[in-house]
Amino acid sequence: MRSFEAHPVGEVSGTLRVPGDKSISHRALMLAGIADGRSEVSGFLASEDCLATLAAMRSLGVKIDAHSATDVSIQGAGLRGLTAAPRELDMGNAGTAMRLFTGLLAAQNFESRLVGDASLMKRPMERVAKPLREMGAHVQTHNGTPPVQIGASPGLHGIDYRMPMASAQVKSAVLLAALYADGPTSVTAPAASRDHSERMLAGCGVDLDIQGLRIVLRPPTRLTAFNIHVPGDFSSAAFFIVAGLLGAAGEGLLLRNVGMNPTRTGLLEILLRMGGEVEVLNPRDSGKEPVADLRVRTSKLRGIAVPAELVPLAIDEFPILFIAAACAAGETVVTGAEELRVKESDRIAAMSAGLAALGVSHSVLPDGMRIQGRDTGKAFTGGEVDSCGDHRIAMSFAIASLRAQATIRIRDVANVATSFPDFVDLARASGLDLIESEGA
Ligand code: S3P
Repeated sequence: MRSFEAHPVGEVSGTLRVPGDKSISHRALMLAGIADGRSEVSGFLASEDCLATLAAMRSLGVKIDAHSATDVSIQGAGLRGLTAAPRELDMGNAGTAMRLFTGLLAAQNFESRLVGDASLMKRPMERVAKPLREMGAHVQTHNGTPPVQIGASPGLHGIDYRMPMASAQVKSAVLLAALYADGPTSVTAPAASRDHSERMLAGCGVDLDIQGLRIVLRPPTRLTAFNIHVPGDFSSAAFFIVAGLLGAAGEGLLLRNVGMNPTRTGLLEILLRMGGEVEVLNPRDSGKEPVADLRVRTSKLRGIAVPAELVPLAIDEFPILFIAAACAAGETVVTGAEELRVKESDRIAAMSAGLAALGVSHSVLPDGMRIQGRDTGKAFTGGEVDSCGDHRIAMSFAIASLRAQATIRIRDVANVATSFPDFVDLARASGLDLIESEGA
């Protein structure tokens, strides 16, 4: 089993470029694969999750040339051009891949079966299966979890779907199936979630009407191919934003080409409210997505109650927010984040166990956490924590070494490669003393 050893250091510095956005990379492969013509993707994230999507698209008959790890050409098969995969499709650790493929494949005239690793096989899939069944699709789960068995589509109907939770994966799965329905489909969300699918579908010429939290999609006859430069993943930048706040040397830590889609930057808003000094430089557009450079300076953080409306906009960033909160003066309270229980791990339980092992006072809530921070001296003791196989838990505790009294050992870190294969190299380049090794 792979582990990290994060030795205490005082500062990070320099200029970093984080890898491409995971959500956008998955969607680029899927939509380019069903478009008419050739699409070029640069800045692609060649992580295990996105490579699972790439392999699955190839199994479904799409021709994909990877010119380098980050430059990929896709020859679209056309809206009705996918063909049955010769075997079950393995999504690895990727919840996004499994949920979006469930939507896409529920509309095809062939059968598919989706499986994943031990973590993904425990994650809830009825949230996508249910609306797809309402559309007429044949989708079966095993007591709510994978394997997902999808029958040949009998022809799908448009529906008006009210999502019970603010999930971009559920929204996207329904929109993908809706491309093939016999009439318009609407999806209404209880709150905003990431909108990369909507932006990319519109870029492919799909007729989408967005009225606040309601989206209406009219089925197209074709999707047009596109060229896209994938921005840096805000969720990967998040680890280094917090690292910079905890201890950036001199002029601060500079992060270049970070995706700044407002449905993704909830953490930034939260950290600014906590007193974080983050300067947004050179805001610009990269295709359909906003990007910027960020300069992060060492800051005195204060605990806050995180506003409920920011939770879905920061949904992947709570592990690293909890590290920031442990180093803030006073209490930080997160509620309304019950979705954290069904991510790659139960992130409330996994973070609580790790914070307890490192001497951080906190209490667990059913839908969040209360953390009593310490902004003077070192907020963390040293010790051993278990990432529970969750990439974001592993990376978060590595950043805690900036405020640790002694070495933090983090177990079970191989899954960092699912989203951020170069994390150790970037962390070391910024000044962290992080070593990865084999051994429990
Ligand atoms: C994602 C949506 C979010 C997020 C996940 C990626 C996406 O999941 O946690 O990492 O790309 O659509 P939910 O839709 O379950 O909130």
